[in-house]
This record gives sequence, structure tokens and C-alpha cells, in this order.
Amino acid sequence: MSNSLKSTDPEIKEILRKELFRQQNTLTLIPSENYPSRAVLEAEGSILMDKYAEGYPRRRYYQGCQFVDEIEELAIQRAKKLFRGEHINVQAHSGTQANIAVYQALLNPGDTILSLKLSHGGHLSHGGCEKTLTHTHYRIVYYGVDKTSEVFNYEEIRQIALKHRPRLIIAGTSAYPRAIDFAPWRKIADEVGAYLLADVAHIIGLIAAGLHPDPVPYADVVTATTQKTLRGPRGGLIICRQKYASLIDRAIFPGTQGGPFMHTIAAKAVCFKEAAEPQFKKYQKQIISNARELAKTLNNGGFRLVSGGTDTHLILVDLSNNGITGDKAAAILEKAGIVVNKNSIPFDAQPPSLTSGIRPGTPALTTRGMKEPEMKLIGEWISKILHNPEDVSLRKKIKKDVEKLCKKFPIYEEL
Ligand SMILES: Cc1ncc(COP(=O)(O)O)c(C=O)c1O
Repeated sequence: MSNSLKSTDPEIKEILRKELFRQQNTLTLIPSENYPSRAVLEAEGSILMDKYAEGYPRRRYYQGCQFVDEIEELAIQRAKKLFRGEHINVQAHSGTQANIAVYQALLNPGDTILSLKLSHGGHLSHGGCEKTLTHTHYRIVYYGVDKTSEVFNYEEIRQIALKHRPRLIIAGTSAYPRAIDFAPWRKIADEVGAYLLADVAHIIGLIAAGLHPDPVPYADVVTATTQKTLRGPRGGLIICRQKYASLIDRAIFPGTQGGPFMHTIAAKAVCFKEAAEPQFKKYQKQIISNARELAKTLNNGGFRLVSGGTDTHLILVDLSNNGITGDKAAAILEKAGIVVNKNSIPFDAQPPSLTSGIRPGTPALTTRGMKEPEMKLIGEWISKILHNPEDVSLRKKIKKDVEKLCKKFPIYEEL
């Protein structure tokens, strides 16, 4: 029973060591990634993993749940306070699971969902890809961003909603650099008699800190992930109006999930506690300042930014005038220890496997303690590499500089 990972499975232990080294010595600019605290990792890797607890606190289908009940109640209570939500469900295993449960709760198969096109920054779980359960079970109609401003055009969205009369409208994005005001969404939803789902998977940390418009007063249901800007464990979160509480709870269990991950729920409780601290607000402010500085540097470096800049933690860079695809850009940046993901840009001429964009974000680097001077440096490195895509020695030199910078801003020393 007491065997360590090292003695039981040295192969996995060694891969874990290599991954730690990779994380320590590269710059993570993937906006959906972060480094949770030791406390979050400790809760996630705890003996709570052993416990089955189908059902909800005080209403379980298993015995021995008195302590996991306390944990789930604490998680709910903290999330309620943090987000001022009427009802909270902390059991969704992921953001996708949270969205699926909302559809299960509010819709019938074949009902119409209005969501953002995948190529304009929507998410797979919103039905933008034919292979998803959302797409096969519901009728999906789309809105996009305005061709000129590259932000939402509410009159255009309203017209699409009036034409298709969706049962559910999703205001939510994976690659939209601007703040979203949820009031016009509510107006459109009311006009066509639709439910409004705000999927704030990416920006939930900014919302918790009061640095982004709050969807809770406007949306019938809000879904989020806890691993991105919120800096918690991988997982989903649902905030809804009291009148949908039992529909949502039943759609999670038994509707779409079995036993809750009590270890993850404990880790969520820890992250909600951390997010209520004044330090967290400072952290979120710095995420935004860092994103602005990085955006400015990239723009000065000759790159066009979709929508002209950012209000959030991420930037969408249009490389179509720079003679390089997002795919190639991400690959050569990785060779220099700079980790970004390729991303389609609105009205992209390239297929999703290549794309014309990259989507850098600052939550992980900000957790490491980096500020504006480091963002400027990193932005300049990115510019140099992308303007000289065949220069291998330049990449090697920058890789060394990246490693030096990483040493100044350590993450976990060891696991
Ligand atoms: C807007 C949005 N919704 C949902 C998700 C899904 O989250 P998960 O990967 O936890 O299923 C994401 C993930 O990136 C997202 O960006």
C-alpha cells in the first residue's frame, strides 16, 4: 500500500520528471493553461479520490459521505459568495461536461442553439464541429464577429436570432480578446424567448476579480472551467438561477455523469478560497496588464492584432500578412522554448489544421511572477523568430535566453 510512484512505476515517474523540466524551462503562453498552487495540487492528489458519492450533499446513494459532504458544501458556499450566484453545481468534470448538462437540462433533442462559429472563436462544445455530440443532437445556427471591427455586432446577432428563433443562445468564446457585455445578449434572448447561457470558461478569473463584466445578473445559466484564469484544478462549474437548480443538478447526475470527483471538488474549494483573497485580484490585474504589454510589443513588431488589441488575458495575432501560418509559427516558437497554440482568425483563408493565427495569453507567465518588462522581452523574441522563420541559430540563441528567464521565475521546484 505504501509503494511510491518511483518504485512502482519508474517509467511514469521519469516522464513526469521530464514534463516538470519542460514546464520549468519553457514559456507557456497558451491562454487556457496555468499553474495551480501547491494547495490545489495537494487536494487534487488526495485520498478523496477513493470515495464514491453519487448524488448531492446529504442526499447520496452511498454511505460514508459525511466528510465529502462537508467538502462539497464548502465548495458550493465559497463559489456562491465569490460569484453571487443563486445556485451552484461543482460536479461537472470539465467545461464541456458542464455545457452538455445545460443542454440536457433545458433543451429537447433537435432544439435550436445559436452559438459562435468555431472559426470565429467558438468552442467545440457549442456545436461548431459536426463530430460533436452538441452538433448531432441539436440544430446549430451560428453568429460570427463583424468583418470590419472583429467584435460582436449585436444588431446582426439579433437578426439571426429573429430569423431562427433559437431555444438557447450561447454567449461564450475561446478566442475573443475583447470584454463581453452581457446586457445586450439578455435583451436578444428575451426578444426571441430563448434561454441565455454565458460560457465564461476562459474569463472566469477576471470575473471573480471584478475586472470583467459579470454574466451572473443576465444569464439563465453560466458555465466555466476552473483550470484556466481561475487557476484551480481541471474541472467545470455551473452557476444558475434558483428556478433551474434541480434541472441542472439532475442533468449532471444522473443525466450525464456518475460519481463526482471528490478530490477535484476539494481542489475547486481551495481555488475558490484563493480567488477570494486580495492577492488574486492583483494577479488578475497583472494578467491584463501583461496581455496589453505583449499586444503592444507584437503590434510594434509588425503583427496585426484581431480587433486591434485586448481587454482580457489573450491576444489573437493575425499572421496572414507576415507570410507564415499559425501552424508553422507555433512549431518554430516551440523550438525556442516559447509555447503557443495556432488558432483560426475570423474569416480565415487557411484551414483549421494550418490557420492564420496564434493565440498567446498571459495567465501562466503572470503566475510565475512576470510583469511588463518580461512581456516586452518575450514579445520581441516572438517578433524576431516569426520575421526570420528559417534562422535556426537565432532560435537557438533565444532558447538559451528563454531558459535564463525561466530560471529567474521558477514554478514548482520539484514534485
Ligand atoms: C469557451 C469554452 N467552453 C468550454 C471549454 C471546455 O473546457 P474543457 O476543456 O474543460 O472541456 C473551453 C475550453 O477551452 C472553452 O474555451
